[in-house]
Formats: sequence, structure tokens, C-alpha cells
Amino acid sequence: MTETSFYDAVGGEETFRRLVHRFYEGVAEDPLLRPLYPEPDLTGAEERLRGFLIQYWGGPNSYSQERGHPRLRMRHMPFVIGEPERDAWLRHMRDAVDSLDLTEDQATKLWDYLVYAAHSLVNSPT
Ligand code: HEM
Repeated sequence: MTETSFYDAVGGEETFRRLVHRFYEGVAEDPLLRPLYPEPDLTGAEERLRGFLIQYWGGPNSYSQERGHPRLRMRHMPFVIGEPERDAWLRHMRDAVDSLDLTEDQATKLWDYLVYAAHSLVNSPT
């Protein structure tokens, strides 16, 4: 018996492509977040976040093949992430989640994870 992954249930790669692309359109215009991203264009960051989320939700694991173990807390240490950065990040994600055609249950499941993960990556007092 095979179980359908959340990745497949929400529409596979196309859905994550749309989610992360919309998210980075918001980041690109955000005066608080944009300066945190070290590279002059956000294409690489978009690929990494997309690959990570695809893998996390049960899709292909190309993220770890390319980047190894995610170690997200460690990888975010070079960036000052306080509550304002976390909330700005989540605001763009909320907009991106709302732009998809998910069921209410799917949107809640995805959103709850993103909120939890974003809270766990705060590394600086505000
Ligand atoms: C990388 C900021 C939350 C997943 C990055 C980078 C920045 C950043 C500046 C470097 C961009 C790059 O890859 O070149 C933030 C901020 C957050 C946040 C301000 C607010 C809390 C999250 C969350 C997740 C996440 C909640 C996962 C659900 C990733 C991944 C990478 C990354 C997978 C690439 C890691 C790598 O392979 O090097 N983030 N992030 N981030 N972030 Fe975040």
C-alpha cells in the first residue's frame, strides 16, 4: 500500500515552485529582509528553499544531495533574525500560501509548520 505524500497531495513541484517564487517576490521588495540575503540575485536562495520544502514534504530529496543535512538553525546563524525579521518572513509566506489553491486543511498544515519553523530560527533578542 502506498501513502500519498503531502507533496503529491498539494500538486507536487509546481505548487512549491509557485509558493517559493511568490515568497521571494515579497522578499525582493522588503527593506528589512532583502539586505540579509548575501547574493545579488535571489535565484539561488529560491532554489534552496524550494528544494528543502519539497524534500521536507515528501518529494525528491535533491536538496540534501546537493546541500547535505539541512541544519537550518546553524545555517541561519550568520543572519540576525529577531522577531521583526521572523514576522516579515512569515508575512510574505502567508501571502504566498494564500496565493495557492490549497484546501483549508492543507493550508493549515503547511502554515502551522512554517510558523513553527520560523519561530525556531530566531537567533537574536529584539
Ligand atoms: C537560507 C533568512 C526562516 C529555510 C536563508 C538565507 C537567509 C534566510 C538570509 C540565506 C539565503 C541563501 O540560501 O543564500 C531567513 C529568515 C527567516 C528564515 C530571516 C525568518 C525566520 C526560514 C524557515 C525555513 C528556512 C522557517 C524553513 C522552513 C531556509 C533554507 C535555506 C535558507 C532551506 C538554505 C540553506 C542552505 O542550504 O544553505 N534563510 N530564513 N528559512 N533558509 Fe531561511
